[in-house]
Amino acid sequence: MDMKKCVLVSGGAGFIGSHVTVELIEAGYDVIVADNMSNCDMTCFEGVKKITGRDDIPFIKMDFCDPVATELLFTTHAIDAVIHFAGFKAVGESVAEPLKYYRNNLESFINVIESAKAHGCGNILFSSSATVYGEPEKLPVTEETPRQPATSPYGNTKQMCEDILRDSVKAYPEVRGIALRYFNPIGAHPSALIGELPRGVPNNLVPFITQTAVGKRECLSVFGDDYPTPDGTCQRDFIDIVDLAKAHVFAVRRMLDGKMKKEYEIFNVGTGKPLSVMELINGFEKANGLKLNYRIAPRRAGDVTAIWADPTLANEDLGWKAERDIEDTLAAAWAWEKHLAGKD
Ligand code: WQD
Repeated sequence: MDMKKCVLVSGGAGFIGSHVTVELIEAGYDVIVADNMSNCDMTCFEGVKKITGRDDIPFIKMDFCDPVATELLFTTHAIDAVIHFAGFKAVGESVAEPLKYYRNNLESFINVIESAKAHGCGNILFSSSATVYGEPEKLPVTEETPRQPATSPYGNTKQMCEDILRDSVKAYPEVRGIALRYFNPIGAHPSALIGELPRGVPNNLVPFITQTAVGKRECLSVFGDDYPTPDGTCQRDFIDIVDLAKAHVFAVRRMLDGKMKKEYEIFNVGTGKPLSVMELINGFEKANGLKLNYRIAPRRAGDVTAIWADPTLANEDLGWKAERDIEDTLAAAWAWEKHLAGKD
């Protein structure tokens, strides 16, 4: 019998990490979840166990900024690949506290690569972001679209981590890497057992929408309706979280099966279809049969007008494609919010 391959998911108790853990387990991988719990609680990890029916998923509370703890993890477990999510992700906070972001996001990734390399399991998948494209000159963006200078320390750490991985792959024959550039991940698992758990006032659109719908927020502000877009609101490529999670399974399999075309590869993970903020709000109302309280507000500093993916490379090379209908995604986001409300 084939030995099951083991994937370490750093930051695996968070929003994206928990969905990825579910998909990996359902695809037949063993998973080790490690998280320092700095921006989540056990809700999602408990949800993962319920969804998969697995009570034995190893969970390790640890900080990848600690090189000794990281090394110990690799010494005590046979790991075949790593998916690195652990990191801070609040754009605004990163502007106020850049050193916190650089130290955390870079140190943890360096430690992970170093230990993975030392233990001969140099298959590394990094969770990057479409934020590396900045305000693109041409849409949609392909992986060849030039990166723009980052507008926040957070965005800069994404670019720098991509570069750290690229350079490590170049220098060390035992290391291979894939960077997945996520567009706007939204929604929740259809079971409503895992989803986004923003602390405080949500920065992102969909959690703000669901919290407004459930009555936790009075009114959604639509940041700007005077952009040069068809309806004046910004356009994004909203990608369902389960679809996004599945892209990781394809990427891990590609690495472990030796199917990579280059030692370092980048894939856009998006739908390829732009949706405006207003279209998303209308979609949410329609999917869930309710009316949302919103008003038009001034633009938010730092927002790009429009960005969406050309996902051709992921479709053709990775064999992955976004499949979930946007209304299903928005229904899942709402089901998750109601699930949380029920627990209050
Ligand atoms: C989407 C659109 C807002 C809130 C950010 C990060 C990015 C990535 C994902 C995170 C914009 C509008 C929002 C609200 C609104 N990584 N909006 N009212 O800014 O595209 O991307 O999240 O870890 O790096 O920058 O996503 O959801 O914040 O905003 O009108 O209350 O919704 O102006 O046009 P964004 P978002």
